Amino acid sequence: MQQTPVACVQHFFDANTSTFSYVVYVEDGGECAIIDPVLDYDAASARTSTASADKLIDFIEAHGLKLQWLLETHAHADHVSAAPYLKQKLGGKIAIGERIREVQKVFGGIYNMRPEAEAFDHLFSAGELFNIGTLRAQALHVPGHTPADAAYLIEGSMAFVGDTMFMPDVGTARCDFPGGSAATLYASIRHLLAMPPATALFLCHDYPPTGREVMHTTTVAEQRAHNIHVKDEITEAEFIAMRTRRDATLKLPTLMLPAIQMNIQAGQLPAEESNGTRYLKLPMNLSW
Ligand SMILES: [Fe+2]
Repeated sequence: MQQTPVACVQHFFDANTSTFSYVVYVEDGGECAIIDPVLDYDAASARTSTASADKLIDFIEAHGLKLQWLLETHAHADHVSAAPYLKQKLGGKIAIGERIREVQKVFGGIYNMRPEAEAFDHLFSAGELFNIGTLRAQALHVPGHTPADAAYLIEGSMAFVGDTMFMPDVGTARCDFPGGSAATLYASIRHLLAMPPATALFLCHDYPPTGREVMHTTTVAEQRAHNIHVKDEITEAEFIAMRTRRDATLKLPTLMLPAIQMNIQAGQLPAEESNGTRYLKLPMNLSW
């Protein structure tokens, strides 16, 4: 009988952006994937630092792991990806859902830039199977927050759900960015919640209410029973009405304009200009 490998998951929390990054592997010395790595970015000084990414490197080196994949769940609006820095240090392929092309098109227009799909090493089609060492993994297409969101299902029993659901007491991700859709997110979430009740869900963020510690994982059963936005008794119409009302009150994330222009190019920093300095663009008085 063939044995199913057991995945080890190490989480890392960036308190500045409330983001979880993960290293997934089977055993020391084997292959691993990093999910959603953060490049620290101070908006006031336009200065990056690799303190968060270096913690991932330290962990990977301490466990003798070989980096096979740098998996992005989507083009993040709240932090810059450290994928290019980690690829340069450790190797591995940067991958995201193939509908990133749509996100690149929309934001390429906003920034007057031409981001290329080839900035990523691999674009996953919906449902595509792949391996992390001996682990069987699948890229699920879970749009709604953006058109290109992916969730990564490992060995059919743990799913990295990106910006779809948060902890049950926090709810769900916003859907008001270009190409976002509350109806689409509802369908994606119902698809995820159709998985077996014990399926572990690993989150991209946590914004805990006062008094609760930061948590990075929950289960399908917990979400179906308790998620304040999508528990089982909430209808699609109720969800869409709630999400639309709530999204209208949300400000743009602080790092959105700098982060997205790098993240639609797999996290690459802008090219140096002739004086050796890199410059970001800030579109003014945007409406979309
Ligand atoms: Fe996001």
